[in-house]
Amino acid sequence: MPPTFSDRMSHVPKSFIREILKDALMPDTISFAGGLPNRTLFPTEAIKAATRKVFALYGNGLFQYSASEGLIDLREWIAGRYKEKGLHVPLENILITNGSQQGLDLLGKILLNAGDGFILEEPGYLGAIQAFALYRARFLPVPVSENGMDTKKLRAILESEQPKLIYTVPNFQNPSGITYPEENRHAVADIIRGTKTLFIEDDPYGDLRFTKTKHTSFKTLLPDNTVLLGSFSKIVVPGLRIGWIAAPDPIMQKLVIAKQASDLHTNPFAQCVMHQYLRDNDLDAHIAKIVTAYSAQKEVMRNSILRHFPAEVTSTNPEGGMFLWLTLPQGASALDLLALAKKDKVCFVPGDPFYINQSHRNTLRLNYSCADIETIETGMGKLANAIKTLLAR
Ligand SMILES: Cc1ncc(COP(=O)(O)O)c(C=O)c1O
Repeated sequence: MPPTFSDRMSHVPKSFIREILKDALMPDTISFAGGLPNRTLFPTEAIKAATRKVFALYGNGLFQYSASEGLIDLREWIAGRYKEKGLHVPLENILITNGSQQGLDLLGKILLNAGDGFILEEPGYLGAIQAFALYRARFLPVPVSENGMDTKKLRAILESEQPKLIYTVPNFQNPSGITYPEENRHAVADIIRGTKTLFIEDDPYGDLRFTKTKHTSFKTLLPDNTVLLGSFSKIVVPGLRIGWIAAPDPIMQKLVIAKQASDLHTNPFAQCVMHQYLRDNDLDAHIAKIVTAYSAQKEVMRNSILRHFPAEVTSTNPEGGMFLWLTLPQGASALDLLALAKKDKVCFVPGDPFYINQSHRNTLRLNYSCADIETIETGMGKLANAIKTLLAR
């Protein structure tokens, strides 16, 4: 007999993506389903060298318990990086977390009571939906498109619901690849300014920019009520599990308490290795390599769509990041498309899990960071055939 689980577990959607990833791992399957960075670009040798160096420098000190806030040197490095971007974030306001995913969990823990209103993007990041569902938040989805966040809907929800939080991924969003245009950022900030709603800007992809255009962070637009989430997962490696939250003082204090209750502190060995890697290497040069690879892969995917897909299928054209979002004609189901595509050994993630309680949506996410150019061309050709079969039904 299974135990009686807590009520909060009944609100958490299971990871539909994991189920799809099982298919993605089948031999000969071309997968656009994963959300992983490309491991051939991991700076493994440099991390090996950093690891040797920290052993020589700190010895068994590496394995002692350490501060809940995280390694000072690493927090200082992150504060310096923000400064280079024109953002004032003192190291005292930075908490190192076990990936930025833990940041989401801690924010939910300290801020959300059951039933509290919470704005999230539609489509939105599945990991955030899972993290906040655990705290039984009342999701208030606001659509996003290539024009950014729907400000009319945002204003209406803010007026009627007074939500506690708004969670956004304004740069190269997961799942859609969308970036909020500059005017939209200002319009969103104008609506939020003066309310009690806390703005969360999650930015794991921001450095993976293919174009020269730079956008204003919400931290600049709403300096007193923005919480930033950051991560080394997409720009160095995800496996060391190092992310961070940058939050104003009162929020930071509660986050530290929640962090202690959760896991005392983030792995100090991993933090030391990451910091040494950052000290000894040119991160921007490394990011440039990732950007060169991903932007070429994105171009190939996008050109395949323009060449092979029926004209009524539209896609985003991401300026960075790892994902592209496809919209099939109204009424077509991406789940049905997946069934067809799987027969031809191609997979992707249908849009459904990125919405709250919706099924058989006509949208899907394609990841371009992991497959090489030839594989992308082959896979997109197969996907085009599956789409044509679906639309001919
Ligand atoms: C938007 C977004 N936020 C947070 C995360 C979690 O990243 P990590 O916990 O590896 O830092 C991801 C991972 O894919 C993501 O796409």
